[in-house]
Amino acid sequence: MVTLEKFLDPLPIPAILQPKYRNKKEPYYEVRMRPAYQCLHSKLPATLIWGYEGKYPGPVINVRRDEKVLIKWENHLPEKHFLPVDKSFHGLSDLPEVRSVVHVHGARVRPESDGHPEAWFTKEFAQTGPFFSRKVYWYPNRQPATALWYHDHAIGITRLNVYAGLAGFYIIRDSMERKLNLPQGNYEIPLLIQDRSFNPDGSLFYPRQTEPPNPQIDPCITPGVDGDTILVNGKVWPYLEVEPRKYRFRVLNGSNHRFYRMKFEPRLPFYQIGTDGGLLPAPVKLEELILAPSERADLIINFAYLAGKSFILRNDAPSPFPNGTPVDPETTGQIMEFRVVLPLQQEDKSSLPDQLLPVPRLDQGLVKVQRDLSLVVQRDEFGRLFFLLDGKGWHDPVTEKPRRGEVEIWNIINPGFVSHPIHLHQVQFQILNRQPFDVGHFTRTGEVVFTGPPELPDPNEQGWKDTVRSTPGEVTRIIIQFGPYTGQYPWHCHLLEHEDYDMMRPFTVVSKKCKK
Ligand code: C2O
Ligand code: CU
Ligand code: CU
Repeated sequence: MVTLEKFLDPLPIPAILQPKYRNKKEPYYEVRMRPAYQCLHSKLPATLIWGYEGKYPGPVINVRRDEKVLIKWENHLPEKHFLPVDKSFHGLSDLPEVRSVVHVHGARVRPESDGHPEAWFTKEFAQTGPFFSRKVYWYPNRQPATALWYHDHAIGITRLNVYAGLAGFYIIRDSMERKLNLPQGNYEIPLLIQDRSFNPDGSLFYPRQTEPPNPQIDPCITPGVDGDTILVNGKVWPYLEVEPRKYRFRVLNGSNHRFYRMKFEPRLPFYQIGTDGGLLPAPVKLEELILAPSERADLIINFAYLAGKSFILRNDAPSPFPNGTPVDPETTGQIMEFRVVLPLQQEDKSSLPDQLLPVPRLDQGLVKVQRDLSLVVQRDEFGRLFFLLDGKGWHDPVTEKPRRGEVEIWNIINPGFVSHPIHLHQVQFQILNRQPFDVGHFTRTGEVVFTGPPELPDPNEQGWKDTVRSTPGEVTRIIIQFGPYTGQYPWHCHLLEHEDYDMMRPFTVVSKKCKK
């Protein structure tokens, strides 16, 4: 284990990717996944990473709403992984060890361009998975302005490919957002928060064994990997120098397994203006922000009148969340530092509007189908914990077949001790409520008996979401309109060790007329 000095390096700002060319109006991009050595902290030898365009995080892809974008994702990765690959489940021993497929998380796209876990491909597309159908992905971007992200999604090794560095921002802009006159340009900054551990030689450490070790399988997947070091935009505990004015931060928890509960020290309230899928109806004033893996928060922080001050962004979320190991206040309890030391370049004319964008509530009266889906843990034949969605795994037949355009309620029942961030592809949904139930009774009988009234989601969860925290001991209800595309998509827990084994299921959106 290596402990590194904090706030030594400035926060890197990922570059914006330029299209290779424009075909009529459609931008065409090419993105290569490549190994590279990158300096993640100035006191650490360069670290081997895998990055989109050889960068960790990858470049920012900036698009306009309704603009069609084509992206060819290319795999230029070696044949062997540099992190420990467990091949003991999912028939992974029959697959090429290194495979990749790219998913734009939160995007509404056709299944062929969604990055289905079995649409993987190897270097030069030499080998491809059973769902592979095209080299160039097509993104219509017909959805509100928001910060999405792209990351690897290859079956069975998503946790390793993302940990290696395969993640980046994908930001949609629109005119509604522009009219609000939010801070922009140099005053709008993406923050990708992730945890990692390092070996003394600077290489990434990812455990190859569970605790206690499992001699029958080596390497062996574990139920969740937390790093002891926090990085933002690929730098260990960076600092950012800011002017005394408003900034907009697009915050993403891109960690494999760690939640963050963030707060400034000294105290500094801030405003959340958007969620996973777009702007909130009005800013929500916060002192503390919880983000599970893959959740995003669009924040406005006003540093006006704070010239000369410094603020540490702290984290106090135990892992697993919310009842696991407490953070170490000296390491995982800190994320980055903001220093209000730059002179004000010009008067801050940006605004923090009182009203943002109305979020029309999905109509519960339209709901024809409700599904009860429980999150369960089991042990496999080697005694390892593994996770299931409603008692089924990735390879079991599809049971969720919503009709295109129809509205459903999913009741996610969590009788366990940890929160699971549940994510559905293709859709943005709304959280209705959470309601506590008698876990012991449920575990014995499978029957849900409520022990309290339903509670509304937090104010900063009352917008469009593609990931919801399913909290322990509660039924979390979400309302979803499926579509516009038919076909098969995954839904899964976004704790990447859970997703890989085996907390991911396919769902199929079927066409409306189809009888059966
Ligand atoms: Cu961000 Cu299916 O994932
Ligand atoms: Cu996704
Ligand atoms: Cu999970």
